[in-house]
Amino acid sequence: MNKFKIFLPVIAALFIFVSCNTPAQVKTDEIAVKVDSLIELMTIEEKIGQLTLYTSDMDQTGAFIRKEYESDIKQGKVGAIFNAYGTDYTHRLQEMAVNNTRLRIPLLFGYDVIHGHRTIFPVPLAEAASWNLEAIQNASRIAAEEAAAEGLHWTFAPMADIARDPRWGRMVEGAGEDPFLGSVIAAARVKGFQGENLTDLNTVAACIKHFAAYGASQAGRDYHAVDMSEIMLREVYLPPYKAAVDAGAVTAMTSFNDLNGVPATSNHFLLTELLRDEWGFDGFVVTDYTSIMELLYHGVAADTAHAAELSLEAGVDMDMQSGFFQQSLAKLVAEKRISEDLINQAVSRILTVKFELGLFDDPYRYSDKEREKNNIMRPDQLDAARDMARKSVVLLRNEENTLPIDKNIKTIAVIGPMGSNQRDLIGSWSAAGDWTKAVSLVKGLEERFPNANIIVEEGCAIEGNDKSGFKRAENAAKKADFVILALGEAYWMSGEAASRSEISLPGAQQELAEIIINTGKPVATIIMSGRPLTINWLAENSPAILQAWFLGTQSGHALADIISGDYNPSAKLPVTFPRNVGQIPIYYSMKNTGRPFDANSKYTSKYLDVPNEPLYPFGFGLSYTTFTYDNLSVSKPTYAMNDSIKVSVEISNTGKVAGEEIAQLYVKDHAASMTRPVRELKAFKRVWLEAGATAIVHFSLHPNQIGFYLSEKEYVTEPGKFSIFVGGNSNANLETSFELK
Ligand code: NOJ
Repeated sequence: MNKFKIFLPVIAALFIFVSCNTPAQVKTDEIAVKVDSLIELMTIEEKIGQLTLYTSDMDQTGAFIRKEYESDIKQGKVGAIFNAYGTDYTHRLQEMAVNNTRLRIPLLFGYDVIHGHRTIFPVPLAEAASWNLEAIQNASRIAAEEAAAEGLHWTFAPMADIARDPRWGRMVEGAGEDPFLGSVIAAARVKGFQGENLTDLNTVAACIKHFAAYGASQAGRDYHAVDMSEIMLREVYLPPYKAAVDAGAVTAMTSFNDLNGVPATSNHFLLTELLRDEWGFDGFVVTDYTSIMELLYHGVAADTAHAAELSLEAGVDMDMQSGFFQQSLAKLVAEKRISEDLINQAVSRILTVKFELGLFDDPYRYSDKEREKNNIMRPDQLDAARDMARKSVVLLRNEENTLPIDKNIKTIAVIGPMGSNQRDLIGSWSAAGDWTKAVSLVKGLEERFPNANIIVEEGCAIEGNDKSGFKRAENAAKKADFVILALGEAYWMSGEAASRSEISLPGAQQELAEIIINTGKPVATIIMSGRPLTINWLAENSPAILQAWFLGTQSGHALADIISGDYNPSAKLPVTFPRNVGQIPIYYSMKNTGRPFDANSKYTSKYLDVPNEPLYPFGFGLSYTTFTYDNLSVSKPTYAMNDSIKVSVEISNTGKVAGEEIAQLYVKDHAASMTRPVRELKAFKRVWLEAGATAIVHFSLHPNQIGFYLSEKEYVTEPGKFSIFVGGNSNANLETSFELK
């Protein structure tokens, strides 16, 4: 962003100056001139208005609503509104701002468009399981297209928080446990939302959240404290936010947690030193819901004014919902506790985004009825959601090819609370999604197996202890040729403020599963959940298991595609599945310890009552075919620091049907100045292979991708021996090695 102060008389001179630059640069400079000129005209109250964001009363995503938000709009006391969408409504609110305020500065409309706006795509954790960056980018693209057609300018996404504790309900909103996978996915989402150009009518501004390390909340309890070394922060938690910055996200949101004793919302290190000075982020920073007010509860601010002062000084530009900027900033300037320059800087960042969105050219350009009519839940958008959903389902078990089922099957029993369920399918944070439009599993199966007799029995509810339906369910199973057991969590059991201390199947579902599976019928269990569940018994006893997360509007069709074999599953877990809560945190890239596990030696790192291994490792997922990996090699035994490390592997489809494999490359550093994880994901490739086909897959790594932080500021790649493992999950044992000189 342009930092010079330019007055109107010098604009002409500036145009001559900028004309030597690229078109994008010219545009940036032109906007900077306009922003600076506008700020010159603004009173302190008008400036503070631009730093204030309130929710409308259309939707509530936090503890309280400011009732006077409409009169605030008319008085220019608020510059942005969230939880308001629809062309009529946004037009009406926009008119309030434009027609009543002196400078006619348009409002910015934000909303949590997390995994679709009207057409609901799979929850983000599910999409991450696809490892398919093009599809993920496209999903965000469609979400933006629908949101922008309904008056929205700004989405509070992507969530780039690394999460290694499945008790934390918000794991569902991110891309799982791994910094590499998390980074490429965060970047894909930003590109999808923002498209080529923010000015385009089908794009929305992205918001990187929650900055930073929110996913590390202690014990998986939401909003809890975070205390971690800066090295861990930099190696594991920061990369996805940084990738989103590099992908061009124009806004970022502070997180609720404190980090090493300083709340993110008053954290100068995070918001200024790191985000702006080190990473070069030049968009604006918004707080999370009432986070400035929460500085009082964190115990770092003595009163309202102090909280406002701390957060502005730290680098916050916009106050979401606490109203503390509105209440205190003018007074703080008058008392010379903060400088007006700091306010000007924040205003400038916010106005820049409004200019980039084209709102000053036409404040109503996103509230166009015709576009709203033609850009919502179109067949092509629904098809994309269905395809994304199929790509997100992880086949966890498939004994003796239980799945797919014969298309001529006579009787299918669908048992469990998720069978006819629509409400839960769209998951948490489902924006303006209408769950009544979600295709249930039963509906999907009815369309796919028109000649089959489909018996549906709920058996029990998601929660509670009512077992009165068990007998009917058991009888239905006995009558069927194939049973689909549809189990899981309710949509509200994950997401914000939805931590669980037990992550097993809720209610009486486990008992129902045991009764049904003990009938001896072929059974495929479908688990819908916003997090890994501890499904140990099912993992040993259910002949087939599909981890379906929450797949969105097209759930039933996508599942029917897989169950019928029309689609061969290829997804891989973006997060480790623990055996029990006691293993948490558990992730594949753990440290080796000085006493690695040895079953025959007591004094090694292990539990007395549970193995160290997870139930399912990160990266795991089966297919209806099988893949083998051979001839893993590096192009030479020794590389120099500026070489490319070339790796190749042969992958064969050894089964009977075509399928896609996600080949994963992990690196292990044998001896370094700091302890290193047992292995780290550094690359992956999706490979489509016909039955019986073989392909040679190539990877290329640069030595700077396999370095680490020696100290807070020093990232190094050290010479020495490295191993490479390539395979279909994080336990891959095909190994080769090389020396870095
Ligand atoms: C609180 C949540 O933490 C955040 O993710 C969301 O964007 C805001 N509320 C706005 O709804």
